[in-house]
Amino acid sequence: MDGTLGEEARQILRTARGWIEELAEEGVTSFEVASAEPIPPQTPPIEAKSASDGTTLEAVRAELGDCTRCGLAEGRTKIVFGDGNPNANLMFVGEGPGEQEDLSGLPFVGRAGELLTRMIERGIDLPRSEVYICNIVKCRPPGNRTPLATEVSACRHFLDRQIDAVEPKVIVTLGKPASSLLLGRDIAITRVRGTWHEYRGIPVMPTFHPAYILRQYTEQNRRLVWEDLKAASARTQQ
Ligand code: URA
Repeated sequence: MDGTLGEEARQILRTARGWIEELAEEGVTSFEVASAEPIPPQTPPIEAKSASDGTTLEAVRAELGDCTRCGLAEGRTKIVFGDGNPNANLMFVGEGPGEQEDLSGLPFVGRAGELLTRMIERGIDLPRSEVYICNIVKCRPPGNRTPLATEVSACRHFLDRQIDAVEPKVIVTLGKPASSLLLGRDIAITRVRGTWHEYRGIPVMPTFHPAYILRQYTEQNRRLVWEDLKAASARTQQ
């Protein structure tokens, strides 16, 4: 390996190695690439009510400002704050913006986003604009690496404030980093997905990240996510 490799490149390699080891443990031996067009941005014409403590998404976005609280600010094009119904019953929390999201300023609009949208609209029969979608970090990590602990903690307050503003009945965490953050420990997503947890009094359902489903596009994985989303959606009705 090149001895001059920077810390960022080393982190990307560590992340990639972690993913490969995790997938190998799950018996994955090859990758199938599914193709999908980027989805158009959603702009829901929904009036926000304020949360019971008066928090609004607009106020949280204003507090975030032109954020430079962590190093991700240097490489970003746009901050990706969140998208959807400010009064949603169901909130999805992903890992961090990818390339399309960084360019558009909207979460989940690339290939993984198109799959997430299909899972919501066809899987649980909700328009995407009915749910609220955001990430644990609001700026794109370089090369789509997993966000560092320092980046996640710099951004955590804003996720908490988004949760305060939306007051969802149920939160679905997508993949290991988001699930680990809300469950408060380093989790194995294959073990915790489909089981109920709680974050600040709100039921949390961890499930696979749609990017993982794109890589492992099996009937079994799609069925598991569908079951998780159906359980999450049903719980919002209780
Ligand atoms: N993956 C994420 O975790 N979030 C996005 O917004 C897009 C892809």
